[in-house]
Amino acid sequence: MKKLGCILLLSLFFHTLSFAGETFLVFGGKTGWIGQMVVNYLEEQGYEVYPAESRLERRGDVEAEIARVQPDYIINCAGLTGRPNVDWCEDHKVETLRTNVIGTLNLIDVAYQYGIHVTNFNTGCIYEYDEEHPMGSGIGFSEEDEPNFDGSFYSKSKGILEKLIPYYPNLLNLRVRMPISSNWHWKNFVVKISKYAKVINIPNSMTILDDLLPVACDMTLRGLKGNYNFVNPGTLSHNEILDLYQVYVDPTFTYENFTVEQQDQILKARRSNNELDASKLLQEYPDIPDAKTSIHRVLQKMYERRKCS
Ligand SMILES: NC(=O)c1ccc[n+]([C@@H]2O[C@H](COP(=O)([O-])OP(=O)(O)OC[C@H]3O[C@@H](n4cnc5c(N)ncnc54)[C@H](OP(=O)(O)O)[C@@H]3O)[C@@H](O)[C@H]2O)c1
Repeated sequence: MKKLGCILLLSLFFHTLSFAGETFLVFGGKTGWIGQMVVNYLEEQGYEVYPAESRLERRGDVEAEIARVQPDYIINCAGLTGRPNVDWCEDHKVETLRTNVIGTLNLIDVAYQYGIHVTNFNTGCIYEYDEEHPMGSGIGFSEEDEPNFDGSFYSKSKGILEKLIPYYPNLLNLRVRMPISSNWHWKNFVVKISKYAKVINIPNSMTILDDLLPVACDMTLRGLKGNYNFVNPGTLSHNEILDLYQVYVDPTFTYENFTVEQQDQILKARRSNNELDASKLLQEYPDIPDAKTSIHRVLQKMYERRKCS
């Protein structure tokens, strides 16, 4: 009996050692919105985390960094999204390609050669509602559907990448959409639309990071692979969010709508509106709350955080 206890204690000790020894290299983890949240979350869980230094398009630097850090997992949250918004990519096509296509492919390819799993934060803005997936129908685009939106160069670059990466067996590709979190970062979709002079009102799939960041990290640790529509089930429209913003955050808040056609006139590139089918993700994580439920909690938290700051 004493011997069995010793064996159990020893195996627990070695399990803890191997757990503590797992290391993550996070691209975009130094300065990126999502990347920094991933780094903070993993550190809170007690993992060893290295925010990457190398630029994706510099293959030699990426390889040297991977060889030096020898991570168990790589998470890529680096990408060019444009400042102040994706319209920037229309005038910086080569830069966009070098990061979002060539650079990201470099990283996945080098990791493949080292036998390391990569979780890639990509976008679901590669679809738009069509006849088979009409707005409001609840019929979302599945992972098997061919992308049908390249109306902005940003989306085009991400769509080109999606054509190349499915052949890599070391890759988990997460399609994020209109990410929302309870922090007051300017990239948070709630913060963004609350500051627009006018907003469209279209239901869309969205990624509520408070729910889904821990899921991304768990999927990485489980070594899951392939494409996943990385969104909460169901949709939220701009007005649904802003009406609740008024209820939870600021009762004096007002907003004005305009049409997609009017929006197109003030933008360089079109924007994608779509619903993604979340059922593949839900098969793995059935407790992910639907977007319409989760947004209440997020807005309550945003209110509390603003009160505290
Ligand atoms: N936020 C959204 O609305 C949204 C929606 C869907 C999908 N996504 C995707 O999620 C990912 C992260 O988005 P985010 O909002 O966190 O973006 P972000 O705040 O703009 O951060 C992007 C990060 O990528 C790094 N980066 C850019 N080019 C790089 C390169 N060539 N080599 C290495 N690092 C590079 C940036 O580093 P520097 O600061 O040093 O340049 C920064 O740390 C992106 O791929 C984006 O397309 C975002």
